[in-house]
Amino acid sequence: MIIRLTCAGVLWALLLQLASCIDPSLDAEWRRWCLKFNKPSKQGRSAGVNRREVWEGNYQLIQAHNQRYTQGQETYDMAMNGFGDLTEEEFVERAQSPLPARHLRSTPLMLSASELREAASRLNISSIDYRDMGYITPGLCGSCWAYSATGALEAQWKRRSGRLVPLSKQQLVDCSQPTGNKGCIGGRPSLAYTYVIQNGGIQAEETYPYEMREAGCRANRSLNVVSVKDWKYVPPANEQALEDAVATIGPVAVVIDTTTRNFQFYRRGVFYDPKCSIWKQAHAVLLVGFGSEGSQEYWTIKNSWGVNWGEKGYMRLTKNQGLHCVSWAADTGVAVTRGQSATLQCPLETNLTEGMISWYKQISGEGPNLVLSYALSGYSEIRYGVGFHPDRFSVQPKTNDSQAHQLLISTTEETDSATYYCGISDRNETGQNRP
Ligand SMILES: *[C@@H]1O[C@H](CO)[C@@H](O)[C@H](O)[C@H]1NC(C)=O
Ligand SMILES: *[C@@H]1O[C@H](CO)[C@@H](O)[C@H](O)[C@H]1NC(C)=O
Ligand SMILES: *[C@@H]1O[C@H](CO)[C@@H](O)[C@H](O)[C@H]1NC(C)=O
Ligand SMILES: *[C@@H]1O[C@H](CO)[C@@H](O)[C@H](O)[C@H]1NC(C)=O
Ligand SMILES: *[C@@H]1O[C@H](CO)[C@@H](O)[C@H](O)[C@H]1NC(C)=O
Repeated sequence: MIIRLTCAGVLWALLLQLASCIDPSLDAEWRRWCLKFNKPSKQGRSAGVNRREVWEGNYQLIQAHNQRYTQGQETYDMAMNGFGDLTEEEFVERAQSPLPARHLRSTPLMLSASELREAASRLNISSIDYRDMGYITPGLCGSCWAYSATGALEAQWKRRSGRLVPLSKQQLVDCSQPTGNKGCIGGRPSLAYTYVIQNGGIQAEETYPYEMREAGCRANRSLNVVSVKDWKYVPPANEQALEDAVATIGPVAVVIDTTTRNFQFYRRGVFYDPKCSIWKQAHAVLLVGFGSEGSQEYWTIKNSWGVNWGEKGYMRLTKNQGLHCVSWAADTGVAVTRGQSATLQCPLETNLTEGMISWYKQISGEGPNLVLSYALSGYSEIRYGVGFHPDRFSVQPKTNDSQAHQLLISTTEETDSATYYCGISDRNETGQNRP
């Protein structure tokens, strides 16, 4: 009886080994990794996943990539890190903060691309790095949107006052729900700025330190150190305008696609990943500069995953290759009150031909409703949303002018004021209420 049990046990273990394709030659490497990242090396399955198997898959991916890197076939290098035992799906879930629907109450003004260009040409620079200029605080934080928002504010404050003061990310996590953020679940830098305006300012990290969790709001206005009068959007889908804004104004909070495995294990170099999508808004980071290395132009981004990831917490990302990995999404709204008619323009200054333009309507206290959307390449596939009333909306025919995406609205029957705004999305994306 005992013997039979043992045999069955051995057989079972053998079967498991075979089934899970574990390479014993990686045992030592696996144990080193487990020790370094404080994981049990005898990990069984967790969440239905064999951790060793996942780790090996990642290990091999990194090895293969780095071999191509050494042969000059890749522009960047990868390294095993603390994300090593996560599947791609788990990583995506962890890394991205799903962004809440936009809550635009007033007209968020957009910077003018031509004014930015003019100011930037006067500077005549081909690179800038705000880290060298003492504008950037070091640090780590899980709430990427709060991190990129405070990063942008810290740099603006340094510019105004000459002082670099770390600002409270925890306050944004705890307190900016009323403007639409969702604490640890997700948020947008723009909604964080709106909170700071409404709160009359934001406290320093010192008086409201980071806790890596969401807690009740404990803001104390008398401790505010920096206030914000106004904020602006950089014209969407326009890499020149983004460069000019970084050069003339300072670090800019942007949303990028970080959902690929290569991003997960990035170590150094100029990142370029064909799997990266301009349509995915997964993760907020801070653009802290740009420059070039040989003929390779790059953006420098500050990430919030700690100094062990990338180039001491930073990444250089391919620049001027169609806003690689950086979201195209327009994010602009116009408030229209009862009895008004208005012509709204979606501020596109780009040659985008793929994708959809969607127009949304939001009434105070409600989520945004899709009014209509159509393909950028023409109006042949207009989709109408629940908020569509044929007598109130019409779409202007597209001309060769890339800014001619217009919506005509008459709001005589509205009971309240509404905000209309447009967004650009993947034409494959059907999501309603999801600008
Ligand atoms: C801009 O800088 C380049 C060199 O960096 C210089 O050759 C050029 O003359 C400058 N242009 C102006 C308008 O100052
Ligand atoms: C707010 O901060 C001030 C200054 O430190 C302090 O005197 C006051 O008691 C604080 N208020 C609350 C409610 O904690
Ligand atoms: C649009 O494309 C044309 C030709 O490819 C190019 O000359 C022009 O600069 C592009 N415009 C923008 C805003 O990218
Ligand atoms: C748009 O551009 C095309 C090609 O450049 C031209 O043939 C056409 O007449 C233009 N249409 C309008 C309305 O200007
Ligand atoms: C949309 O779907 C088509 C067909 O599935 C695919 O070829 C195309 O690349 C997709 N577009 C984007 C922007 O993902």
